[in-house]
Amino acid sequence: MSANLAASRALVTGASGGIGEAIVRALHARGATVVATARRKDVLERLQGDLGDRVEVLSADLAEAGDVEALPERAGRIDILVANAALPASGPYDSFSDIEVDRALDVNLRAPIHLARDLAGPMRERGAGHVVFISSLAGKTSSPGSSLYSATKFGLRGFALGLREDLVGTGVGVTTVFPGFIRDAGMFHDSKTELPKGVGTRTPDQVAAGVIRGIERNRPEVDVAPLGLRLGSMAGGIAPGVVGAAQRKLGSRDVAAQLARGQADKR
Ligand SMILES: NC(=O)c1ccc[n+]([C@@H]2O[C@H](COP(=O)([O-])OP(=O)(O)OC[C@H]3O[C@@H](n4cnc5c(N)ncnc54)[C@H](OP(=O)(O)O)[C@@H]3O)[C@@H](O)[C@H]2O)c1
Repeated sequence: MSANLAASRALVTGASGGIGEAIVRALHARGATVVATARRKDVLERLQGDLGDRVEVLSADLAEAGDVEALPERAGRIDILVANAALPASGPYDSFSDIEVDRALDVNLRAPIHLARDLAGPMRERGAGHVVFISSLAGKTSSPGSSLYSATKFGLRGFALGLREDLVGTGVGVTTVFPGFIRDAGMFHDSKTELPKGVGTRTPDQVAAGVIRGIERNRPEVDVAPLGLRLGSMAGGIAPGVVGAAQRKLGSRDVAAQLARGQADKR
């Protein structure tokens, strides 16, 4: 274990969202003090009211470079960073304005890189800490309407693997978590997309458990999805043409169209 959960201070971005809230609750339940950040302060304060002690709230807009730059100092000592905030950025590549492209790159990729760089330095000096990136199975294989989202989520994977190597032997661990379709809360649930029969889902609590497992075992990568999707994403890395054709047969274009419609308000 590269960070002692019970005695740690954890910064969780996207803490007002479906998965972020579950991660905050899981870290808090293990004794961590959690600094919860997002734009919607009222949602964060409700969570703080619910959990009581050991929750601090910081509102920040991760699309704003100044907010990202200021966050590490505002947060104080941080032993665990969970870079979870993201926009769904779903839809055909030519459906995004310049501003929407840049916002997705800023929130999903630029902010996690800056925060990890700024927070891993002090962790390294203390000889302990952990950085967790929430990617997606769309960070291992792409599907229709996922070009921009996948660019950010593949990017996180590359950054995380390199960072992990840079930090070997320092006491600071790095984990990337790859959720599949998550039910009950979060950006997939909110889109009301219906999956083809037989495509399974997982819950926000299972993603949070994956985060805890990644930290406690210092795992490089943790998938949170049923076996079929995990195997599909692995195969997509080896034979993307074959897997792309199989996905189309299984209805990936229909799922992509539903996601783009249901997530248009989160661009
Ligand atoms: N849900 C799924 O099925 C699924 C699957 C694979 C991966 N994931 C990944 O899991 C993570 C959490 O997703 P979720 O499902 O919980 O989504 P969500 O419910 O839509 O939450 C997104 C979070 O990101 C924050 N956020 C968005 N724009 C921001 C900005 N400009 N500045 C600061 N914070 C911002 C939101 O907070 P505010 O709006 O309050 O700012 C919110 O807390 C994401 O990285 C996502 O890509 C989700």
